[in-house]
Amino acid sequence: QNARESLYIVSQFAANYFEDQMWNSQEGKTIGLSYFKERGFREDILKKFNLGYSPDVWDALTLDAVKNKHAEEYLEKTGLAIRNDKGKLYDRFRGRVMFPIHNFTGRVIGFGGRTLKTDKNVPKYVNSPESEIYHKSNVLYGLFHAKKAIRDQDNCYLVEGYADVLSVHQAHIENVVASSGTSLTIEQIRLIGRFTQNVTILYDGDAAGIKASLRGLDMILEEGLNVKVVSFPAGDDPDSYMHKVGAGAFKTYIEDNRKDFILYKANILLAEAGTDPIKRAGIIRDIVESIAKIPDNIKASVFIRECSSLLQIEERVLLSELNTMRAAKL
Ligand code: GTP
Ligand code: MN
Ligand code: MN
Ligand code: MN
Ligand code: MN
Repeated sequence: QNARESLYIVSQFAANYFEDQMWNSQEGKTIGLSYFKERGFREDILKKFNLGYSPDVWDALTLDAVKNKHAEEYLEKTGLAIRNDKGKLYDRFRGRVMFPIHNFTGRVIGFGGRTLKTDKNVPKYVNSPESEIYHKSNVLYGLFHAKKAIRDQDNCYLVEGYADVLSVHQAHIENVVASSGTSLTIEQIRLIGRFTQNVTILYDGDAAGIKASLRGLDMILEEGLNVKVVSFPAGDDPDSYMHKVGAGAFKTYIEDNRKDFILYKANILLAEAGTDPIKRAGIIRDIVESIAKIPDNIKASVFIRECSSLLQIEERVLLSELNTMRAAKL
């Protein structure tokens, strides 16, 4: 048995441990399980995603793992335990609700742990560190549970957070994954590309969410995927909006507010620029630059036409700008 395999095994052990704590211990039930239920998550979803709870003591998992003959080395290498100055191991995750992170074949490779405290000085989420089995830039939370639906629906919804995945999935929209806080990487986009060419971004309705979606967009285009964007009302994310309006109205909202990314981007940038002609010219270049990233010429020319009417610029002007940019890249 090699070292990598041992890391998978201890990660699975920890997932089982946190799950058992949540469903069967007094602390887990009254704190962890109640928390999820108060947020509106059903038991079937908690079980499907193997959610759990880490007891609020220094070394609960570590002691149980060692008792079950797991080597300290692997607890450390997965980041489940940390060694203190005196050489003693303690648990990374304490008093948090636990989201195991599966790779797309379904093996547990890491964890996100959410605090139950409202104290601003405590980080909301603590995540596993990078390890031999967990490279956060290559992982999409929820992909294992979403991949079949992504293929069937030929679309992947991309959200920001763990809770968003659970809420959307719970509403029987199962083709949903999260980038989990990191801005989208090329590896994550390629992972989606194995299952579909269509991505619909459902990002938080705050400034950070919108900026994150604009950054992610051009990369997705370069990979040749089609991108749509739904933005949520300010202050909401897919999870909070789902609980506010219910599954039916949520589905209607995403149908009605699905915008093609180019138009979405153009609208945001245009609103920012106002009537300043110099800023507007800069934006037009910015948008044509995005279009220039689309490998498919026919698709690109459709966007040029749409932007020509939106920006009120003649199509041939945009086309010549597009050709200049493409030539410059060759
Ligand atoms: P909830 O409050 O549980 O609904 O979380 P959220 O998913 O809505 O959180 P938010 O929109 O603030 O952040 C989106 C994602 O970024 C989270 O799901 C986490 O993956 C990640 N994230 C948020 N806060 C932190 C943090 O303090 N530390 C780390 N490492 N990641 C975070
Ligand atoms: Mn790496
Ligand atoms: Mn946010
Ligand atoms: Mn959020
Ligand atoms: Mn949220």
